Amino acid sequence: MLTNKPMNIAHRGAKGMAPENTLAAFQLALSQGCEGIELDVHLTADDHIVVCHDMTLDRTTTGKGTIAEKSLAEIKAYDAGLWFGDEFKGETVPTLDEVFDLVPGSIMINVEVKYAYEGRMERKLIEFLRRRDRLNHVIVSSFDHKCIRRIKQLEPETKIGLLYQAKLLDPTAYARSLDLEVYSLHPYFQMLDAEDVTKAKESGLYVYPYTANDEKDLLMLADYGVSGIITDFPGRLKTLLQDRNT
Ligand code: G3P
Ligand code: MG
Repeated sequence: MLTNKPMNIAHRGAKGMAPENTLAAFQLALSQGCEGIELDVHLTADDHIVVCHDMTLDRTTTGKGTIAEKSLAEIKAYDAGLWFGDEFKGETVPTLDEVFDLVPGSIMINVEVKYAYEGRMERKLIEFLRRRDRLNHVIVSSFDHKCIRRIKQLEPETKIGLLYQAKLLDPTAYARSLDLEVYSLHPYFQMLDAEDVTKAKESGLYVYPYTANDEKDLLMLADYGVSGIITDFPGRLKTLLQDRNT
């Protein structure tokens, strides 16, 4: 049976098979046929946007301490691949510029803002997106909806996505109640049901649940008719969707 195919979005790169949020993870995701990538951003002490999930360097690099307290040069001195495997030695925490240099313009980039840094992140990110001229292929999302509102106010052309982890009564009604042109919903996948997806799509919202990895969950989301699936295993998702459509 031929059905709509959800966009294959690699979570922090191909996180299941490479160190998350590194160029190696994004490159692997691209080679596995992803159509979008999701990444997380923070600001360094000298105001560079870097790609890392945690506020601290401890879990995913050889460094210690918070990103906000270090310069880009200091952060670049740490290894961001070794914790995952010796074959990834030499990976570093990438700047957002480095990721945009790597990823072709045809691939959607979902930038997740983890922290607003007293409003500095919003300004820096909009400055960055204007300079890179990729607003069309970028969705900026956050669990911090006030931050998302500031981003939209700074640059109305930005596609904004609302991340949420709760089972909302009516996510579409919530999104449409905001005086913003929301582009997409980004629910935790277990908090989503078919009715939510239908309502969202009828209202013109895209739906990108995170982070599903098991075959049954991936197929369930595809059956709901979601716009895309954020997964640690883009290769697995690609194969599943191919099989489902033949
Ligand atoms: O953007 C989707 C997902 O990445 C949100 O959660 O913690 O994996 O960044 P987290
Ligand atoms: Mg994320």
